Amino acid sequence: MSSRRRFLQSSLMAAGAALLPAARALPASNGAKVVSTWDFGVPANREAWRILAAGGNALDAVEAGARWAETGQCNSTVGRCGYPDRDGFVTLDASIMKGDGSCGAVAALQDIDHPISVARKVMEKTPHVLLVGDGARQFAVAEGFEPRELRTPEAEKAWREWRETSRYAPEINAERRGVPGNKDNHDTIGMLALGADGRMAGACTTSGMAWKMHGRVGDSPIIGAGLYVDDQVGGATASGVGEEMLRNAASFLVVELMRQGHSPSDACHLAIERVVMKRPQASKTLQVCFLAMNNHGEVGAFALHQGFVYAVCDAQQQDTLLQAPAVYATSKT
Ligand code: GLY
Repeated sequence: MSSRRRFLQSSLMAAGAALLPAARALPASNGAKVVSTWDFGVPANREAWRILAAGGNALDAVEAGARWAETGQCNSTVGRCGYPDRDGFVTLDASIMKGDGSCGAVAALQDIDHPISVARKVMEKTPHVLLVGDGARQFAVAEGFEPRELRTPEAEKAWREWRETSRYAPEINAERRGVPGNKDNHDTIGMLALGADGRMAGACTTSGMAWKMHGRVGDSPIIGAGLYVDDQVGGATASGVGEEMLRNAASFLVVELMRQGHSPSDACHLAIERVVMKRPQASKTLQVCFLAMNNHGEVGAFALHQGFVYAVCDAQQQDTLLQAPAVYATSKT
């Protein structure tokens, strides 16, 4: 190698080293913890906690918690009982990520009731990160997942009623406000776990927006939008109208804000402000929620509109449900 090339190479390496934050040793964990979005996060956390409390790792914990949300409840926004798209198809999105950067996801997956476990198989058994639609279904079946009808009679009835108007207008925290005929249609479960070894993982799973266009994919299976985890910093996940998270690479943004020194709470708040800044008018009519945990186990959350709750579980508190601060008070709550 010529001395000029050697000089250029070492200069570039030095420049790269200056741009990239040096990898730090992971902090000794204060103890295991799991957090997740919405009130169904409480029982989902319990499933995850069973694993963490027994010394299990964060990845197994978030998969177990997300699996509970997919089939252990019947909820119109996650898994088996999810509401269909406007053509009547239930299509599921999910992602899973380890703090070392390994990740897997599925989008627009039909007939398989544990998309989070298919996402984990994508991570562990393929050279890819994201499989979609029929290809994701074929992969799941090849991996032993049994196809089944996901559309429940209740979801079918709601879809038929919706077709009378075919109006696509997601309501903020609708089910929580008891709005008849307009159930919550954006309550994704996002879960973040910190293992006793200081390693983190996250999972995010949803049936997406009710009555969405067939083929629509939200933020939940997109690494960096609905979920992002980095052992060096922490993790973030999102719930709400996924298009806003996609526009802002939102979960990645929250983690990067924590990397710059912001607390989880401030990072979520700053990311919400970014959403408002980008689309101030739209922000008044849709919900966006962020939940973050850093690698010391500090937790924060923020939402566009009041009504977002999140569940926290560790050795001291098993069933804690907290209200996130918000930019707007939702008038109809
Ligand atoms: N946050 C879920 C979705 O928009 O699909």
